Amino acid sequence: MCNFLLAIAFCGLVCFSAGEDALPANGTLSDGQTLISRNHDFELGFFTPGSSKNRFVGIWYKRKPEVVVWVANWNNPIIYSQGVVLRIARYGALVICRDGSILWSSNSSRVAPSNLILQLLDTGNLVLAVDTTEDNYIWQSFDHPRDTRLPGMFMVHSPAEEDKYLTSWTSSDDPSPGDFTYRIENKGLPQMVIRRGNVKIYRSGMWNGVYINVPTFYNTIFKGKIFTDKGRTMYIDPYNSSILTRLVIDQTGLIRRYTMDERKDKWNLVYTIPKDPCDDYTKCGPNGMCIIEGVPICRCLDGFKPKFQTEWDFQDWSDGCTRIRALSCMNGDGFLELKGVKYPDILRFYLNTSMSIGECRDVCLRKCNCTAYAQPYIDNGGRGCLMWFGDLIDIRVLPGADKNQNIYIRLPVSELESIRKSDNKKRRHAKLIAVSAAVGTLISILICGATVIVRRRRRRGKKNEDLELPLFSFATIAAATDNFSEESMIGEGGFGPVYKGKLSAGEEIAVKRLSGTSRQGLEEFKNEVILFAKLQHTNLVRLLGCCIKGDERMLIYEYLQNRSLDYLLFDHSRKTELTWPNRYNIILGIARGLLYLHQDSRLKIIHRDLKTSNVLLDENLNSKISDFGLARTFRSDQFMARTRRVVGTYGYMAPEYAIDGKFSVKSDVYSFGVMILEIVGGKKNRGFNHHDHDHSLLGHAWLLWKDCKVLELMDESLIDTFVEPQVKRCIQVGLLCVQKLAEDRPAMSSVVFMLGCEEAAIPNPNEPGFFTERSSNDVENQISSRNESVRATITISQLEGR
Ligand SMILES: *[C@@H]1O[C@H](CO)[C@@H](O)[C@H](O)[C@H]1NC(C)=O
Ligand SMILES: *[C@@H]1O[C@H](CO)[C@@H](O)[C@H](O)[C@H]1NC(C)=O
Ligand SMILES: *[C@@H]1O[C@H](CO)[C@@H](O)[C@H](O)[C@H]1NC(C)=O
Ligand SMILES: *[C@@H]1O[C@H](CO)[C@@H](O)[C@H](O)[C@H]1NC(C)=O
Ligand SMILES: *[C@@H]1O[C@H](CO)[C@@H](O)[C@H](O)[C@H]1NC(C)=O
Repeated sequence: MCNFLLAIAFCGLVCFSAGEDALPANGTLSDGQTLISRNHDFELGFFTPGSSKNRFVGIWYKRKPEVVVWVANWNNPIIYSQGVVLRIARYGALVICRDGSILWSSNSSRVAPSNLILQLLDTGNLVLAVDTTEDNYIWQSFDHPRDTRLPGMFMVHSPAEEDKYLTSWTSSDDPSPGDFTYRIENKGLPQMVIRRGNVKIYRSGMWNGVYINVPTFYNTIFKGKIFTDKGRTMYIDPYNSSILTRLVIDQTGLIRRYTMDERKDKWNLVYTIPKDPCDDYTKCGPNGMCIIEGVPICRCLDGFKPKFQTEWDFQDWSDGCTRIRALSCMNGDGFLELKGVKYPDILRFYLNTSMSIGECRDVCLRKCNCTAYAQPYIDNGGRGCLMWFGDLIDIRVLPGADKNQNIYIRLPVSELESIRKSDNKKRRHAKLIAVSAAVGTLISILICGATVIVRRRRRRGKKNEDLELPLFSFATIAAATDNFSEESMIGEGGFGPVYKGKLSAGEEIAVKRLSGTSRQGLEEFKNEVILFAKLQHTNLVRLLGCCIKGDERMLIYEYLQNRSLDYLLFDHSRKTELTWPNRYNIILGIARGLLYLHQDSRLKIIHRDLKTSNVLLDENLNSKISDFGLARTFRSDQFMARTRRVVGTYGYMAPEYAIDGKFSVKSDVYSFGVMILEIVGGKKNRGFNHHDHDHSLLGHAWLLWKDCKVLELMDESLIDTFVEPQVKRCIQVGLLCVQKLAEDRPAMSSVVFMLGCEEAAIPNPNEPGFFTERSSNDVENQISSRNESVRATITISQLEGR
């Protein structure tokens, strides 16, 4: 089947760089196309990270394409991007599809109106909305952070909804969620936490009303702020159009803040978190304190000593420190002030926002297990009361010691006195460990479809034109059909009755009696019959000859056992005989037969009335096209009237044919496309009903295609026998065949190739013809039911005027 190679020019039609910032509801974005934000800061499209071979859809800086800030399908890599598109599904989700199936979906939960657009905003936020100027998005990428936080993007902690936080990539080649997360946690006082899996490896320290505990977070340029609203705790760097800045968590769990140096056109690493060993969570163990300039960096809080001195001496500080002298609770405890520290983590604590510091001290003193207290907020000269119970974990001396963050640590009075004797420790600024930036290189590779060479089957060069007219005598036919008896009549087509007959040699025939309707000249009729009798293809019903008596003309065909395709396909119980392998074979058979008519026979024949009732099945359910060429045989105005009466084939007619009477091989391709969809769907195009809409089967298939759910088109009775890639391929080819514009439809040679060749890359279809919803009093609908009653083995072609 794959020996038909052809040129499928993908790029010729679809590969352009749009330069638009938005995708309309009916638009698609394929590999090579991009959306660009209006300010030209951000670009959305397909990319390949690092040395990966996979493609992803993401957003990057237009000027620095190697810096990807968001990835759509981070968990669903695209291995082969040809034919893959990004689009808006009808139910209001952003989807990445191939072959009419979803590779990735935005999983939007809200029911969406139909006129959505997808827009890449100046902030780098990709939004799905009716009107993107209003802050009422159906979906936005800012709600689904990956490893990068951009200004304007909220990080959220909320008991009532999913948290929004950063997740590292697995590696620079693989954007799937890695080990590290960076998020807001709030157990009374919010702080930022880095975790590896579930293990806390860094915490910023609590929001103290001015900044998050570590002054790094407070920056007059970024002006990041944390706030609580209706139970949600949120962090945001406000958007400022004159600064390009981003914060990213890398594969090692390191947070990096970059700003764009416009003058040098390069990224400037502003800070990293953790920035030094003292930022490692609980570096010095319980009741230890980290001082970055210290040698060693850990020491015990005053009044404490190493729990295991030897380990401590070997710089294993993890077991921390224990009290030198036990507390004596009510009778003689006091507090030692420790200045400018990151407060211990709040594991067991008590918070009261209105108490004064004096009250706080008194209450702490009265509770024997209160080990320290402090003011949680330092704004307005300090306010509130925070008490710790048990061990004090993860204290560090703040670089540039902020004297406002002071904590009072409970010690027995005896210990306090001995401490007072020793000198205050000197504190210096901590060193900043600069970590060099190693930015992965991301290369976008634009893959366009390969051009394949056309090779056509060589025509057979039979030379014997002098074939005799296969003429049957009237007596022979009358005898074969028992004198055209009622019993031998097997159908009533548009042009007269059809009889089953048996020649004396035992050969079964079907006789189509053209009831005195043709005014065509006898010679002309004979010539046509000679021509068509010469057409020989396993997928065409053989015309054995004709019989002429006076004005009466008859066509003699081979007789086929299994009647017509519609007889089986549209019957609830009989359709189960047609398994998927049968149906696939039937589709391929029709395609080959039609290809033969269109190009491989010596005549170029346009069938003009392809439909399921014109496809007959032999005893092995092989499909054979019947009534081909009949349209050429008759040239009488008389037939036009008849044609109008039997409009059953309307559902198969291409728009240009139905409306303008223009026909070509492409109008046959259209009818064939309708048949494919009917065969896969097990339903008639016309008279199709769906509770969601008033479209025909074609329209339904198109909607499913746009929603990337084409498998839903499949007849339920195929559930046990279907082969998914074949079904999907058939639907896609079917949709290609029924495209509105004749020039968009593939030739039958391409169709045969695409259907039969698994490796064939199939282009994405455009809108089909007649994609409009019907009204309920549609004339077509009423007529369609009439056609159901034709129970002919061979129906006679209905003609369109020319
Ligand atoms: C999308 O819809 C608009 C207006 O509804 C139309 O002008 C445009 O041609 C359509 N585009 C495609 C690709 O169908
Ligand atoms: C999709 O959304 C639903 C509900 O909003 C959620 O339960 C489900 O986990 C989400 N699926 C994915 C893949 O995000
Ligand atoms: C944005 O940043 C520029 C440059 O730092 C600054 O001058 C300006 O005031 C900022 N705008 C706002 C609204 O913060
Ligand atoms: C905070 O402390 C004040 C004064 O002691 C008290 O009146 C108030 O009830 C406390 N608030 C909470 C939430 O415990
Ligand atoms: C502190 O001790 C009291 C009893 O003295 C107990 O009720 C309380 O639960 C303890 N609090 C913590 C946080 O351990």
